Amino acid sequence: MPSFNEVQRAVDQLRAGGIVAFPTETVYGLGADARQPKAIKAIFKLKGRPLDHPLIVHLGETPDITGWARDIPEVAYDLADAFWPGPLTLILARGEAPDEVTGGQDSIGLRVPSHPVARELLRAFGGGIAAPSANRFGRVSPTRPEHVKTEFPEGLEIILDGGSCDVGLESTIISLLEEEPILLRPGAITQQQLERVTGGVIRAPNQNNPLRASGLLASHYAPDTAVLVFDPEAPSNRFKALFDGRRIAFMCFDDVLLKTAIENTIRVRMPRDAAAYGQILYSTLRTLDSEAYDLILVEKPPETEGWRAIHDRLQKASHESQHLLATASFEAPHSIRS
Ligand code: TXA
Ligand code: MG
Repeated sequence: MPSFNEVQRAVDQLRAGGIVAFPTETVYGLGADARQPKAIKAIFKLKGRPLDHPLIVHLGETPDITGWARDIPEVAYDLADAFWPGPLTLILARGEAPDEVTGGQDSIGLRVPSHPVARELLRAFGGGIAAPSANRFGRVSPTRPEHVKTEFPEGLEIILDGGSCDVGLESTIISLLEEEPILLRPGAITQQQLERVTGGVIRAPNQNNPLRASGLLASHYAPDTAVLVFDPEAPSNRFKALFDGRRIAFMCFDDVLLKTAIENTIRVRMPRDAAAYGQILYSTLRTLDSEAYDLILVEKPPETEGWRAIHDRLQKASHESQHLLATASFEAPHSIRS
């Protein structure tokens, strides 16, 4: 935990229009004073993110949303009561907020994080902190302070150390702009959990009218190394050519781990529990990415609701690598299929 003085230094930096990296329970964020347009612009520059992608404003407690949002529906407070502080972002009609934060849209993303360091920072700062995940645009979000350092070797004076993030995946985002809530980004708080509070069905976003949310891009959260998701149970597995001559890291569950022994392939054992898996997914991808494999192969996780956010992130991480599958006709090595 950072000392009182470190938090105070971070607050001074925010007040002076600077950027501070800080931990949340989901991933690390790059924070700036949400009321200072120049400070917000500096975040976009540092991240290399398109200017029209809006940022989430982090707040100390639920009542703080009134200044930032307008026409707040009752269901927003129901969700806040149920899940804040915690890994949920609400998209509401925009109140008083700079264009730089909202990407010029008439809506705003708000969240009250639960990480003790984030809470301490927000309390000491006393205002809203706009923060995207502390990674360069399109890359894997950081879940440890060292990751932030790796993303930005220069240009970040303050990285508050809150250890490993508990959740490890970005917050669930739900839009309350329309009559029916829309799930924009799956996360640790599942659609079912949200529906229990909203009392109705939550829709997926309309593809014809996409909201601007970088987490919604097809490719995102991606390492440099190619990533593919692989189902050892599928009868028509055609992955053999992928194994030939490639150095592969295979993120898999116990059963496959015990059965397989493939040349040039290291196996990384992944947890069977979705929450535990989510917690280490990004740090595992990051470590493997730094070890320069030709391919990171990921055993397909179960299709149940609790794994939805993980499927979503794996799909995005593997989007750019799909062409590898198209170029050959493959068969899985016998040792994996049996
Ligand atoms: O867990 C998280 O949400 C982390 C931590 C740091 O809080 N933050 C995070 O921020 O993931 P970022 O900027 O990497 O992703 C925020 C997502 C983006 O996809 C952004 O487009 C979307 O939230 N978003 C923010 N404001 C929005 C708005 N007004 N309408 C639609 N999407 C919005
Ligand atoms: Mg991000």
